[in-house]
Amino acid sequence: MPNHNKIAIYPGSFDPITFGHLDIIRRASLLFDTVIVSVARNRQKKPLFDEHEREEMIRRCVSDLPGVEVDSFHGLLVDYARQKGAAAVIRGLRAVSDFEYEFQMALVNRKIDENLITVFLMTHDKYSYLNSTIVKELVSLGGDVGCFVPTHVKERLNEKLRKK
Ligand code: PNS
Repeated sequence: MPNHNKIAIYPGSFDPITFGHLDIIRRASLLFDTVIVSVARNRQKKPLFDEHEREEMIRRCVSDLPGVEVDSFHGLLVDYARQKGAAAVIRGLRAVSDFEYEFQMALVNRKIDENLITVFLMTHDKYSYLNSTIVKELVSLGGDVGCFVPTHVKERLNEKLRKK
């Protein structure tokens, strides 16, 4: 029987989630029946928030979006996508500078599993300069990031980065 539940994985570090990520999640949820936003447990990166904190922040942001689930994974993305029965991987593109790395990653993933499709979605241009690293730097230097992340994420950032 054909599978009518089209599942997409939206993987990332989400350290922490920003309005740019949320814009991509909302767009992806219009295209797929189920979007699994999945936090990568990447040992090479030292995140500010552990995976449970990152998952919890994402969950609070997407609770009103039907068909959006939150999870985390380690190991190869293609293995995880296969295990979830996903048809596609979603990645957001902000600027041309993102393209080279994203293209390389998509091609490597396709080499490993040719059935896995990478779908690139363009972020709204008002978020095209935004990333989690800049948000963390702004908070640590006393800046207000209220226009870049939801209020509860901003509070968590302030707790982590301003307590010293
Ligand atoms: O938000 P990020 O840090 O740009 O996300 C990168 C991520 C997590 C999607 C990427 O590093 C990834 O897929 N990691 C899982 C390990 C893997 O499959 N690596 C091979 C990809 S070429």
